Amino acid sequence: MQIKSAEFVMSNSDVAKCPKDRLPEYAFIGRSNVGKSSLINMLMQRKSLAKTSGRPGKTQLINHFIINKQWYLVDLPGYGYARVSKKAKKTFQKFITQYFEKRQQLVLAFVLVDCRHEPQPIDLEFMQYLGENQIPFSIVFTKADKLKPKALERNIKAYEQKMLESWEIMPPYFITSSSSAMGRDELLQYIDQINTDLPSI
Ligand code: GTP
Ligand code: MG
Repeated sequence: MQIKSAEFVMSNSDVAKCPKDRLPEYAFIGRSNVGKSSLINMLMQRKSLAKTSGRPGKTQLINHFIINKQWYLVDLPGYGYARVSKKAKKTFQKFITQYFEKRQQLVLAFVLVDCRHEPQPIDLEFMQYLGENQIPFSIVFTKADKLKPKALERNIKAYEQKMLESWEIMPPYFITSSSSAMGRDELLQYIDQINTDLPSI
């Protein structure tokens, strides 16, 4: 897919105020600092369309971007960041769960996981939650540039094995790096294919 345009539309903490049109929408979710906003910038080939930071907790709202005037990308706050106050965490969790449970336009969630780490309970639980709510998802391994090919392969295999303990099949997954643009074509191609197959609404 060629990216002809990518524009920021709005930020808010209330799913009821998200864009009202019926364009298909893809959300990026995962732990704080996993690289959600960086991945969006890499996919769109824009340096600072989505705000990134070395400090976790940068994205704090539901952010809509419209792509090629045809579909939305949604940048969400990360979960599992210990240093955010308990109150802030509850507020986040509330609007994130409301987003996932109420947003009818949501076609698929990309759950980002850092390829360097072992499967983390919080990510596995989140995928379980998506499954229970019948929300389709794919896994995006981030920061692949930080591992040597052998270690990368080993970690992905281990992740797959862990997933197969609770899922019948491994969901579709992508191995990406926002610094080298690895995985960009595959991910965009995947979205394009889903958009093409969607019944028009
Ligand atoms: P929150 O908004 O806080 O939840 O974080 P986020 O998931 O949006 O992460 P963000 O994109 O802000 O990136 C966090 C840090 O990881 C930044 O310092 C990025 O430069 C770095 N980073 C993100 N993706 C990659 C990657 O693929 N490779 C490398 N080497 N660094 C990355
Ligand atoms: Mg972010």
